[in-house]
Amino acid sequence: MSDNPPVTPVHVVILAAGKGTRMRSATPKVLHPLAGLPMLDFALRAATRLEPASVTVVVGHQADIVQAHLAGRPGVGTVVQEPQLGTGHALLQTEPALPSRDGTVVLLSADVPLLTSQTLHALLAAHREAGAAATVITAILDRPYGYGRIVRRSGAIVRIVEERDGSPAEREIREVNAGIYAFDLPPLFEALRGIGAANTQGEYYLPDLVAIYRRRKLPVATWTVPNAGEIRGVNSRSELAEVSRMVRQQKNEELMAAGVTLVDPATTYIDVDVQVGPDTVIHPGVHLEGSTRIGAACELHAGVRIVNSTLGDRVTVLNHCVVTDSRVEAACSVGPFAHLRPGTALGEGAKVGNFVELKKTTMGPGAKANHLSYLGDASVGERANVGAGTITCNYDGVSKHETVIGKRAFVGSDSTLVAPVTIGDDAYVAAGSAITGDVPPGSLAIARARQENKEGWVSRRKAGKGGH
Ligand code: UD1
Ligand code: CA
Repeated sequence: MSDNPPVTPVHVVILAAGKGTRMRSATPKVLHPLAGLPMLDFALRAATRLEPASVTVVVGHQADIVQAHLAGRPGVGTVVQEPQLGTGHALLQTEPALPSRDGTVVLLSADVPLLTSQTLHALLAAHREAGAAATVITAILDRPYGYGRIVRRSGAIVRIVEERDGSPAEREIREVNAGIYAFDLPPLFEALRGIGAANTQGEYYLPDLVAIYRRRKLPVATWTVPNAGEIRGVNSRSELAEVSRMVRQQKNEELMAAGVTLVDPATTYIDVDVQVGPDTVIHPGVHLEGSTRIGAACELHAGVRIVNSTLGDRVTVLNHCVVTDSRVEAACSVGPFAHLRPGTALGEGAKVGNFVELKKTTMGPGAKANHLSYLGDASVGERANVGAGTITCNYDGVSKHETVIGKRAFVGSDSTLVAPVTIGDDAYVAAGSAITGDVPPGSLAIARARQENKEGWVSRRKAGKGGH
């Protein structure tokens, strides 16, 4: 006989069918993002780390939207709970979907996003060690309001009572039900059918299983999570904000531990999947969102927002820039007040200055557009200089056209480049030009009215002799 009993398969069930009434939202509660990631995905990620035999998400309220969110995820199945008659009823719906008749079900709530996979491993270990039929994660809270309370007798759990159904004395209990459990497969579903709905909400409460197990002499264990913050549930916008703050705080701590300077972590908003290299300095009010990746030794000044973009090493982004779906190579300088719209790519050492907007535009290495420009659907060659106020006229009211500016070209200030048009390598465009035709490489294009000076015009007008 081995000392270690064979490990039974783990089946994860995630409850995500509830109405989320307290959110007052047209969006399903479980899809509200925390630091950029939908709430439900936190539970899914924790589940995946258990390497379960199956993952089943119970959907119901706005099931189509939640199912669409889960579509195409390998190994994740859904079961529809209709109508939504409570957490016990929700779990019962998974019976036909569970592929095997043995193993351990780990039950997660989609609205408890901070739970770590370490805690789930600890739950499973405690469950196996106790030889329990059911194990409940509990936590000790200073403010247990809203949670189910753990009622013990002689130290052993005897039942769980919901806030609304508890006596004043029971509501004093500070040990709460995290809503996360491990259940051995037999006898789970049979016992679930024994749950009634005689409570203030007329729902089938999953926590009632504890009392049912006790009556049937099935062993129930508890495991108390050391970090009570992990089991915070999200039921309202206020809790969403609070738990989001905890997620961000955790992310900020990880980045600082990895060598990133956050001047003021409390006002720095970094989504969970963002990566930042060491020795990068991030000033207050910076938002880094989605799949953004920032290199090493960058400096991001106050009020910058970067979405789904990649920045190389040693990039400086000055105050109040917005960068979306763009790529910025090493040693570039951007801003202040620059707008890099989707499809922008800056080559190494390029410079984009104040009040410059770029869309679907590539700037070669060392190219510059330092002041007050709009460059759309354009390609700017290496070390070209785009003068202040240069505008690409890329849209003719029907379709978009391309502008090509060659290597080392010099576009004088306040030029308009009417696309489609090509400025050749090393060419010059005189300031104030309206360029409507291609400029050959190495030539100068002047496209503006010639200046005429009328000498003595002012004194002639004063003398009443007319201004002509
Ligand atoms: C639940 C527990 C409570 C525990 C708390 C921890 C019950 C009755 N109470 O309360 O003891 O302290 O979680 O956060 O279980 N859901 C369904 N179908 C339904 C109803 C709910 O899938 O019919 C899902 C919800 O989408 C949610 C989860 O179950 O993800 C919990 O439901 P919720 O209504 O938020 O329960 P709580 O009142 O928070
Ligand atoms: Ca809840």
